[in-house]
Amino acid sequence: MKTSQPGILAPLSAQARYLTFALKPGARPHAELKLLAGMVDGKACVVGIGALLAFALQREIAGLKPFPHYRSDNVEVPSTPAALWCWLRGEDRGEIVLRARAVEKMLASAFEVTGVVDAFRHGRGLDLTGYEDGTENPKGKKAVEAAIVSDRRPGYGGASFVAVQQWVHDLDRFAAMPQKEQDSSIGRRRKDNKELGDAPNSAHVKRTAQESFTPEAFVWRRSMPWADATQAGLMFVAFGQSLDAFDAQLKRMAGAEDGIVDALFAFTRPVTGAYYWCPPVKGKKLDLRAIGL
Ligand code: HEM
Repeated sequence: MKTSQPGILAPLSAQARYLTFALKPGARPHAELKLLAGMVDGKACVVGIGALLAFALQREIAGLKPFPHYRSDNVEVPSTPAALWCWLRGEDRGEIVLRARAVEKMLASAFEVTGVVDAFRHGRGLDLTGYEDGTENPKGKKAVEAAIVSDRRPGYGGASFVAVQQWVHDLDRFAAMPQKEQDSSIGRRRKDNKELGDAPNSAHVKRTAQESFTPEAFVWRRSMPWADATQAGLMFVAFGQSLDAFDAQLKRMAGAEDGIVDALFAFTRPVTGAYYWCPPVKGKKLDLRAIGL
């Protein structure tokens, strides 16, 4: 899709940094957003706008809803909305650090940084548990259909919605699980990525099997492992032409559909969760017409 931010459909970069921003009290962010629109091309930096920011601009993006919150005895799925999200992508970590500083400085009069997470590609696209992530992503035209909004109105077509969740893994707990239990919690065999025919209903790929939903729930996953000095996990990122497919998958993972909780929760937990609308691009700039800029 020509008008989508090119970083959404591109192969994963070797390095990444995710920035989240809150709006400063009383700020009118129009000038900063116009500068941002000219500074980022949607490829080396993918930008998402939260409902909080759209609200501050007195604009509504149809389909941009609050992130759900689930809580039960063994599951906590938090909702942590933010005004703005930037996914900085590149091959050189130093270059990303410097680019992140430039974005932060440019936005500083209206936005404050609320989160910085560094991520990276691991092997052939593995989670830190060693399982391949992204195998069942739709391919080619189907990926575009799943991820990108098709709309004739200028400023709307080429947009995308994204769900972003930072998951913290308990890698010691995972390592202590027998190999068979590890495989059955994912529903695939780590050694050859083969799907297990006899996986339990709690297996992650059974919970989220995209064709098993009505309507079918296809998303375009672009998650990356992250780590800091003491913790590590997965930055789960899923783009969609709407947020409905992700919503349905998360509901089932949390056990809110049939009481069966995704086996992933035995060794990992989400600590953030937010939705954003990713505007289209026009002439290598973000196209912010839908939010009146
Ligand atoms: C720590 C968190 C997570 C990890 C480590 C993880 C890992 C994996 C792995 C290893 C697979 C199998 C290979 C593949 O098809 O990609 C997979 C599949 C999938 N995951 Fe996740 N995942 C996580 C969170 C989530 C969340 C939060 C969702 C959505 C709410 C999700 C949705 C999916 C979908 C849709 C599939 C493909 C299912 C199919 O159609 O076969 N995942 N995940």
